[in-house]
Amino acid sequence: MKTPNLTLALSLLLSFIFLSKPSHQASNPPPPLPNPRLLKAYTALQAWKHVITSDPNNFTANWCGLNVCNYTGVYCAPAPDDPHTVTVSGIDLNHANIVGSLPEELGLLTDLALFHVNSNRFYGTVPYSFRYLHLLHELDISNNQFSGQFPLSVLYLLSLKFLDVRYNNFLGEIPSTLFDLKLDALFVNNNKFQFSLPQNIGNSSLSVIVLANNDLKGCIPSSFANLKDTLDEVILMNSGLRGCLPSNLGLLDKVKVFDISNNDLVGALPESMGGMKSLEQLNVANNKFSRKVPASICSLPKLENFTYSYNYFCTQPPTCMKLQEQNDRKNCIPYRQLQRSPKECATFYANLVHCDALGCKPRSPSPPPPRSPPPSPPPPHVAYHYR
Ligand SMILES: *[C@@H]1O[C@H](CO)[C@@H](O)[C@H](O)[C@H]1NC(C)=O
Ligand SMILES: *[C@@H]1O[C@H](CO)[C@@H](O)[C@H](O)[C@H]1NC(C)=O
Ligand SMILES: *[C@@H]1O[C@H](CO)[C@@H](O)[C@H](O)[C@H]1NC(C)=O
Ligand SMILES: *[C@@H]1O[C@H](CO)[C@@H](O)[C@H](O)[C@H]1NC(C)=O
Repeated sequence: MKTPNLTLALSLLLSFIFLSKPSHQASNPPPPLPNPRLLKAYTALQAWKHVITSDPNNFTANWCGLNVCNYTGVYCAPAPDDPHTVTVSGIDLNHANIVGSLPEELGLLTDLALFHVNSNRFYGTVPYSFRYLHLLHELDISNNQFSGQFPLSVLYLLSLKFLDVRYNNFLGEIPSTLFDLKLDALFVNNNKFQFSLPQNIGNSSLSVIVLANNDLKGCIPSSFANLKDTLDEVILMNSGLRGCLPSNLGLLDKVKVFDISNNDLVGALPESMGGMKSLEQLNVANNKFSRKVPASICSLPKLENFTYSYNYFCTQPPTCMKLQEQNDRKNCIPYRQLQRSPKECATFYANLVHCDALGCKPRSPSPPPPRSPPPSPPPPHVAYHYR
C-alpha cells in the first residue's frame, strides 16, 4: 500500500474522532464552521495556492480544507478587536523557494500583522488590495523577483513598522510619503530605485535605514538629523549620493553604524560629527572628501573602526592613529604610505567645489508624490517583534 493513502486514511480517521467528540449541545451537531474571518482567509489562501506554480519544499502541500490555522506558515491568534474570534494574524513562508505571485485576494486577510515571504521566487508586485491590511506591522518580501514601481499600497499601511523589500527588481521613485509612516526599519537596498532622500525623511521614526546599492542621485538633506531620537544604523553605501554632508549630522548621537562609502560625496567631514557619541563603525571610503579629518571624529569615545580610504584628505590628527581599526589609504596625506600621487592631489585641490555652490537638490525634478493616504481610525495596538 502507498504511504499517502495511509496518511489520508489516518487523517480521515483522526478528523472523524475529532468531529465526533461528545458535545454538551444537541446530539449530532454539525461540524463547527470556521468563523467568517477564517472563511475569508480560506478564500484568500486558496487563491494564493492557485497561483503558486512551484513549491519544492511542500510548504503549501497541506493547504487544503477549511482549517487554515493548520496550514504550514499560517499563524492564527485572537482578533485584536474581538478576543473571542480566532483570525489569521501572520504568514511566514520565509525560505520556501516558492514560485508564484501575490493575488489580490490576499487583501482579505485584514487582521494580518505579519507578512514574511523572504527568499522565494515571487514575481509581479504587491497587490493593490494590501492597502486594506490596516494592522500590518511587518512586511518582508525581500530576496524575491518582485518588479515594477514601488508598491503604492504600502503607503496606506499606517501600522507598518518594518518594511523590507531589498534584493528585488523594483525601480523608479520611492514616494516621499513613505517617510510620513512611523516606520522603525526600512530596507530597500539592492533594487534599482532612483530617488532622492526627501525633506520629510525626519517625519519617520526610523532606527535602521538601509538604502545601499540603488541610484539615489541627491544629497543627504539636513532634515536627516531630525531622526536623532531614533536612528541607530545608517547604511547608504553605493547609493549614488552626491553633494556635501549636512553640518548638523553631529546631532545623530544614537547612531552606532554609519556607512556612506562608495558615493560621490564631496567637501569636508563636518566637525560636528564629533557629536555622534555612540558611533562604533564609520565608513566614508570611496568618496571625494577633502581637507582635514576632524579630530573630533577620531576622539569619539566608542569609535572602533574608521575607514576613510580612497578620498582626498590632506591631513589627519594623531588621535586617528590610535583607533583600534583605521584605514587612510589612497588619500593625499603626504607623510602616510600608500597615498595618491602628488600630481593627482594637486589636480583635485585645484578644482575644489564649494558646498554652497552645490546646494542640496535632486538632479532632475521628481514627479509629484501620490496623495497621502486617507485618514483612518487609529489601529489597535499589536505587539509583534521582529528582532
Ligand atoms: C514534496 O512532496 C513530493 C510529493 O509528495 C515529494 O516527492 C518530495 O520529495 C517532497 N519534497 C520535500 C522537500 O519534502
Ligand atoms: C491540526 O494539526 C494538528 C497537528 O498537525 C492535528 O493534531 C490536529 O488534529 C489538526 N486539527 C484539525 C482540526 O485538523
Ligand atoms: C512631514 O514633514 C514635512 C516637512 O518636513 C511637513 O511639512 C509635513 O507636515 C510632515 N507631514 C507629516 C504627516 O508629519
Ligand atoms: C572596518 O570597516 C571596514 C569597512 O566597513 C571593513 O571592511 C573592515 O573589515 C572593518 N574591520 C574590522 C576589523 O572589523
